[in-house]
Amino acid sequence: MLTVRCRGPSAPSPARGRPARNGATRSHPTTGRGHGVTALSDDKPGDGVCAVETRDASKTFTDRKALDGVSLAIRPGEMVALIGPSGSGKSTLLRGLAGLMPFDAGSGPTRADGIELQADGRFDGKVRDVRARIGFVAQQFNLVGRLSLFANVVIGALGRLPAWKGALGLFPPDDRMAAMRALDRVGMAEYAGRRASTLSGGQQQRGAIARALMQGAHILFADEPIASLDPVSARRVMELLSDLNRTEGLTVVVSLHQVDYAQRWCRRVVALKAGRIVYDGPPDGLDRDALVDIYGADIEEVFWDQGAAA
Ligand SMILES: Nc1ncnc2c1ncn2[C@@H]1O[C@H](COP(=O)(O)OP(=O)(O)OP(=O)(O)O)[C@@H](O)[C@H]1O
Ligand SMILES: [Mg+2]
Repeated sequence: MLTVRCRGPSAPSPARGRPARNGATRSHPTTGRGHGVTALSDDKPGDGVCAVETRDASKTFTDRKALDGVSLAIRPGEMVALIGPSGSGKSTLLRGLAGLMPFDAGSGPTRADGIELQADGRFDGKVRDVRARIGFVAQQFNLVGRLSLFANVVIGALGRLPAWKGALGLFPPDDRMAAMRALDRVGMAEYAGRRASTLSGGQQQRGAIARALMQGAHILFADEPIASLDPVSARRVMELLSDLNRTEGLTVVVSLHQVDYAQRWCRRVVALKAGRIVYDGPPDGLDRDALVDIYGADIEEVFWDQGAAA
């Protein structure tokens, strides 16, 4: 089995900077630091296995290629920003990595914790088990509005509960305690009894993160989790993700439209353009030239909140 070897987030890794247009890689100009794929080998899952990896992933919608041969390896405990213009394939990549959508036939394997989610356009039989390790937070509509926040979070345990017990609200005491712990962890315990629809966008996002924790996820994909939020709520959500990443070792992959947020909170930035990775490296390698390359001339628009980068 061909597996992409990964290292821990703090381990030194060979320089892998900004891919040049011809597909070769350039080292980061000032730091020489790099991230991502280290070597291909046939090691079995275990030490050095990636949190998430995919090889040569493509996705075609009718005649449009949303992803075009993307290979990516994310180490356990990394916090990675996924950036790129609208339509560049960020959501498509995240959904495929999370096992929510099959890539095209001919795509290589996609694995989480070394376990195959899909390959060659087909889900693996284990996909349901592996999905439980993966939390997914989207821009909005994460919670069921008519249910309490507590109920929304405890639903995260449903993957481990017989469905009929969940339907009757028969949650074991341990799960109830775990839900309250998860809410406390995201600073939302006092809102447990509130209907989700009465919470602010930022509070709902923190609730959605609590649900992922409740589910037992140690990999979190967040697809533009702050896009609908005001800057203060956005910063709180990013701070929470960063804190969970640092203190709990949660692997986080977050797509963002705001480059300054990506630069402030993530040690690795992956940029997509027209379905291809055009940058993979540290945030400080994203100089003006790199950003013009990615976004074209309108790069000012991707700096939404300059204050956040200060
Ligand atoms: N379900 C779908 N059916 C048809 N085309 C799709 C579908 N989902 C995505 N696409 C197309 O695939 C391309 C990539 O879309 P995707 O949503 O992944 O981009 P994105 O980078 O997340 O964009 P945004 O920043 O606007 O969220 C776009 O051209 C989009 O129109
Ligand atoms: Mg998107």
